[in-house]
Amino acid sequence: MRIRDSEAIRAILGRRSIRRFEERLVEKEKIELLVECGCAAPSAANSRARHFVVVTDRELLNRLAEDHPYGKMLFEAPLAIVVCGDPEKSDFAHRYWEEDCSAAMQNILVAAHAIGLDGVWLGVRHAPGKEESIRKILSIPNHIAVLGIAALGYGKEKKEPHQGIDQGALHMERW
Ligand SMILES: Cc1cc2nc3c(=O)[nH]c(=O)nc-3n(C[C@H](O)[C@H](O)[C@H](O)COP(=O)(O)O)c2cc1C
Repeated sequence: MRIRDSEAIRAILGRRSIRRFEERLVEKEKIELLVECGCAAPSAANSRARHFVVVTDRELLNRLAEDHPYGKMLFEAPLAIVVCGDPEKSDFAHRYWEEDCSAAMQNILVAAHAIGLDGVWLGVRHAPGKEESIRKILSIPNHIAVLGIAALGYGKEKKEPHQGIDQGALHMERW
């Protein structure tokens, strides 16, 4: 077997942003596994200051879709996992929650692809005003930071897997 045919590599290279979804609910077992994979991501000094808000309620999904200017696929997606951090948990969490939550988000998206789901990362943290509005919609406490939303479901579109190293991205030994 070629090393690039390993299941993990195929999941990483095959993950693409999918924005169309079948009308099919995601099983509870899969949802819990995705959150478990989020929790398995590395975090600075193992601070584990991440929180995951699972949204399957159609009315709430629609409200998120209305609110997010680039999140209209949430009108169709049966599942959203909102990845949050608690910067007050520790000094390391305060400094690194964004990196920690990004690692968790990526784990969720790759794991989703590996178990037959698809999805897309919706940025929240640096989208003006969105952190506050999403906090309101989902009753997230004010001291909790919102990194982003994974819109998830059974994909209704197919995209080619990634391949190759981006031109100019690789610097061997020195820049
Ligand atoms: C921080 C971040 C924010 C993103 N926000 C959005 C978004 O709001 N809406 C969206 O449709 N895609 C969003 N994306 C997905 C990117 O558009 C996508 O990853 C990129 O075009 C590359 O495509 P690929 O994921 O298929 O490799 C975001 C991705 C990242 C990492």
